[in-house]
Amino acid sequence: MMEDNVAGEQTPDMDRLIAELMEEIARQEAARYSAKVLEEARNPRNLGAMLDPDGHAGLNGACGDRMEVFLRLDGPQIVRATFMTDGCGPTVACGSMLTRMALGKTLEEAAAIRATDLVAALDGLPPEHEHCASLAVNTLRLAILNYEKPEEPAGDA
Ligand code: FES
Repeated sequence: MMEDNVAGEQTPDMDRLIAELMEEIARQEAARYSAKVLEEARNPRNLGAMLDPDGHAGLNGACGDRMEVFLRLDGPQIVRATFMTDGCGPTVACGSMLTRMALGKTLEEAAAIRATDLVAALDGLPPEHEHCASLAVNTLRLAILNYEKPEEPAGDA
């Protein structure tokens, strides 16, 4: 039997169903991703474009997701790093953690960060999302190269 319900109101049954669904999703995410990945994906740091950056690059991953990295330099030191992505949660986590790792480093030090370092900093990624770390690291490296020489059209990661 259909219950009378004003549009926008939820019945107690519906509230319980939604709460159970949210709990189940949280359980599945916690089983699949580390606490660090979930924290960085849910509360990303350094998310957003930068006006007139010193270094910038955008790359598309093989999966079609896009990552952009923006750098502000003071001499050889990265004093601000931000990112944008239309990618998955793990990609957001990678952009957040990588920009935090790059902060305060010299260009040379930041260019030496490997995808495996980023994965380790996130306490691991599921194998099918390790390419998200490669996309982030490759975009950072290209942003560094673009600072050091004129920007070229974006290619594939
Ligand atoms: Fe492709 Fe995350 S799934 S970058």
